[in-house]
Amino acid sequence: MPDVRLVNVTKTYGKIVAVDNVSIHVHDKEYFALLGPSGCGKTTLLRLIAGLIKPDKGEIYIGNRLVNDVPPEDRDVGFVFQTFALFPHMDVWDNVIYGPRVKGFDMKKAKRIGHEVLEMVRLHERLDAFPNELSGGMMQRIAVARALAAGAKLLLLDEPLGQLDAKVRNELRYEIRKMTKDLGLTAIHVTHDQAEAMAISDRIAVMKKGKILQVGTPEELYMNPKSIFVAHFIGESNFLEGYVAEINDKTITVELRNGIKVETINKTTEELKKGERVVIALRPETLKVQREIRKGKNAVLGVIERMTFEGTNVRYEIRLENEDLVILTRPSLTGKWYKIGEKVTVSFPSEKAHIFTYPKVGLREELAVE
Ligand SMILES: Nc1ncnc2c1ncn2[C@@H]1O[C@H](COP(=O)(O)OP(=O)(O)OP(=O)(O)O)[C@@H](O)[C@H]1O
Ligand SMILES: [Mg+2]
Repeated sequence: MPDVRLVNVTKTYGKIVAVDNVSIHVHDKEYFALLGPSGCGKTTLLRLIAGLIKPDKGEIYIGNRLVNDVPPEDRDVGFVFQTFALFPHMDVWDNVIYGPRVKGFDMKKAKRIGHEVLEMVRLHERLDAFPNELSGGMMQRIAVARALAAGAKLLLLDEPLGQLDAKVRNELRYEIRKMTKDLGLTAIHVTHDQAEAMAISDRIAVMKKGKILQVGTPEELYMNPKSIFVAHFIGESNFLEGYVAEINDKTITVELRNGIKVETINKTTEELKKGERVVIALRPETLKVQREIRKGKNAVLGVIERMTFEGTNVRYEIRLENEDLVILTRPSLTGKWYKIGEKVTVSFPSEKAHIFTYPKVGLREELAVE
């Protein structure tokens, strides 16, 4: 049950750098997600690990073996694609024991493996079904079973739940995770759905434009995003634009538009200077809203611009006096909802604010996922 290590791996297609100098270490038995917007290089990275394509630069290790020149069939890797890649003219049983057969196992061994993996994915009673007679969720379970039967120690899953409806998706994602954990497999799961990545992964690598921005547990990425993009892509963030007014070892004071000043704790690893343009990221749940109009530390006045009843929560969009818009939800149970046009005070604790250099390409462009 191998670990996977990529060292400075690059793959280009003409002028497109699909994977840009990526180094990651996926641990043995880990459920690891590659998360990022469309076109960021997730599938390319997976195909490199599977051996379906070769890197231009860098090394790929599976276990302790350098596999750059090892063909896909000798890597003990199972690939599960977004589009169901079962053989349509074969029934479930033949699909599943295809791997053991082409590996030249004797029939007895191939059958034993086939029964084992079908028990595992609980589709034993559907041996005779053809792929077009199965639901999407079942087909994906067969695809996993087929990979396991072929001897995969490492499962590579490329948006395996992408084609399924929301309910099946939610169930199947836990099932796939549980199956790999029970079998002690290592899994690398590609998705562009942050909720899915958060729900199933031990660790997540956030990718953008071929690069890995940050690797961490869901909690680490949420609590301590190291870039504006990660703060935006994992969970939700509100952004306030401003300039560094004062900076010392402990705190950074930021002047927002219209002369509003707020303070953050200085825990940034970026080298910020006085006068530098910055962005403050705030998780919606760290913002406090009050009817009472008050001035004070990190208290900014605002007006409720939009209110949406979402069932469990009420969602507010609040235009602050510095002109930035913040979004937050509150439980709808309280019944004490704010109304459109109502004046409020929004405040936040200094330690909850993350501060970043203003992106060179502009904030909107930096956060764009296309
Ligand atoms: N065979 C190829 N030839 C040319 N360009 C390619 C090829 N495969 C991928 N690319 C380009 O490499 C970049 C990364 O593509 P990739 O398929 O890895 O992205 P992705 O993150 O999997 O996206 P999605 O979420 O849409 O599946 C894209 O710009 C894509 O157009
Ligand atoms: Mg893809």
